[in-house]
Amino acid sequence: MEPLSLTDKKQSEEDKHLQEEVKTAGSIPSHIAIIMDGNGRWAQDKGNIRLFGHKEGVESVRDITEACAQLGVSHLTLYAFSTENWNRPSSEINGLMKLLVHSLQNEANRLHKNNIRLVSIGQIDRLPSSCRNKLEEVKELTKENDRLELCLALSYSGRWDITEAVKKLAKDVKDGKIDPENIDDDMISTRLSTGKVPDPDLIIRTSGEYRISNFLLWQLAYSELYITQTYWPDFRRDELYKAIQSYQKRERRFGKVKKGYTKKVSASVINKILS
Ligand code: FPP
Repeated sequence: MEPLSLTDKKQSEEDKHLQEEVKTAGSIPSHIAIIMDGNGRWAQDKGNIRLFGHKEGVESVRDITEACAQLGVSHLTLYAFSTENWNRPSSEINGLMKLLVHSLQNEANRLHKNNIRLVSIGQIDRLPSSCRNKLEEVKELTKENDRLELCLALSYSGRWDITEAVKKLAKDVKDGKIDPENIDDDMISTRLSTGKVPDPDLIIRTSGEYRISNFLLWQLAYSELYITQTYWPDFRRDELYKAIQSYQKRERRFGKVKKGYTKKVSASVINKILS
């Protein structure tokens, strides 16, 4: 396979070795979702305005995207702008939207050359036209690529996603296509903006906040959560490896008991415990 290069840097021997270690230590999550947080504080700690943090955050996006593709992650979803972020000062919103257009413009060919498909979820029609147009252009350019799907959640919220899915279901019921009695998990999942994409295996949140912040509320039901104190602009591939190594040590039980636990309990024992 072609060597990947989103960062314009040749991959160091040390990094190749680290990736081999991560790959052999356990399974690599197929889908990683990230709440990129702490850009503003990163900049403010350095006496800069918040936009510097967002700009440096784009470098983390490049590095993490490249490392995910190299490791064989198939889906990477980034929470880049939430519905609630519209309540920020207009100067910050304008700066972020310009940064997005600028980054998409700069990265388009590199994403394409590296076989990465760009997609988006969220209320894209709320974005400024410059942003929407650039996004559509890069999505169109990269639509056949299949090494990694990079999904940007823009003007996104989990409650909006579920509400939209419910509207679609209600319409299908109204049109007589679905009997309400038959509605199941899968009918909801497939009507979410993530469609047939598998649920995230691992969700990472940077900057030490213990919240989901209206991110993929339905899709995160069984995702493993990794929270780091590191601010997003400092979250580079070595931090990603730590998150994956932590994930590899978890036992995902999906509500079942620990693998290998076979002890059976008789009705009389249950009655005795409950008496
Ligand atoms: C959260 O930090 C970060 C955001 C709201 C924006 C994230 C956007 C980028 C990294 C740029 C996106 C670019 C591309 C190409 C995807 P914060 O501002 O909430 O930081 P704080 O919690 O310290 O205030």
